[in-house]
Amino acid sequence: MSIVLFGPPGAGKGTQAKKMIVAGHMTHISTGDLFRAAMKNETPLGLEAKSYVDSGNLVPDSVTIGLVKEVIAANKEGHFIFDGFPRTSTQAEALEKLISDMNANPIKHALFLEVPTDVLARRLTGRRLCRDCGAVYHVDSKPPSVPGQCDLCQGEIYQRKDDSEEVISTRLDAYSKNTEPLKEYYQKKGLFVEIDGQGDPEDVFDRFKTYL
Ligand code: AP5
Repeated sequence: MSIVLFGPPGAGKGTQAKKMIVAGHMTHISTGDLFRAAMKNETPLGLEAKSYVDSGNLVPDSVTIGLVKEVIAANKEGHFIFDGFPRTSTQAEALEKLISDMNANPIKHALFLEVPTDVLARRLTGRRLCRDCGAVYHVDSKPPSVPGQCDLCQGEIYQRKDDSEEVISTRLDAYSKNTEPLKEYYQKKGLFVEIDGQGDPEDVFDRFKTYL
């Protein structure tokens, strides 16, 4: 099966997806990670996505759908976790068509991570990442053992440009306008499940496991 994991910025999608891919041998498709990798490597896709990502706006549907199509095509047998995709109803419809056209594993669950806005803001402003391996930290809840250095690969720790307070507010607006309506989209399809995203990440993961 494949799973859609969605929710507001900072809900913990990436954190939970990484636990799921290990536990369930699944293929992780995070459009945010793919855009950041393309930006780091200054590919044509990265150059196109940069202004949208840095300002907290959504990358155009045509670009994002084309990217996901390539990844599915390269991993046709995969059991996918779609993290941060779809984010618009156009993307949701396109994903169904892609899966059907390519005979990929169908979506069985659309798991929504619920976290209140004030908690999201604290998580996002305190988030730090490793520039080399992408490991995720938080200044309060999960600081690296040596300040500024990744525990896993000793890479440099940095803050995402779009984790500034001003850009976070644009991202939350984009979420409310474009992505929140997907709750109803997946409810109508009988795939929607809400998971409480508050508390220790291991406790949140236990809720996923209990449901699945
Ligand atoms: P993307 O990278 O997908 O950003 P996002 O959806 O805003 O989600 P985040 O990565 O910010 O948060 P998350 O939910 O993964 O939380 P995390 O686990 O890191 O997208 C970035 C940009 O790319 C978009 O703005 C857009 O421009 C573009 N883009 C991407 N996909 C697109 C699409 N489909 N269409 C168009 N454009 C697209 O956790 C956050 C922090 O909280 C971390 O520090 C973590 O350690 C901490 N944390 C996590 N869980 C817990 C917990 N339970 N308790 C305490 N702290 C926790």
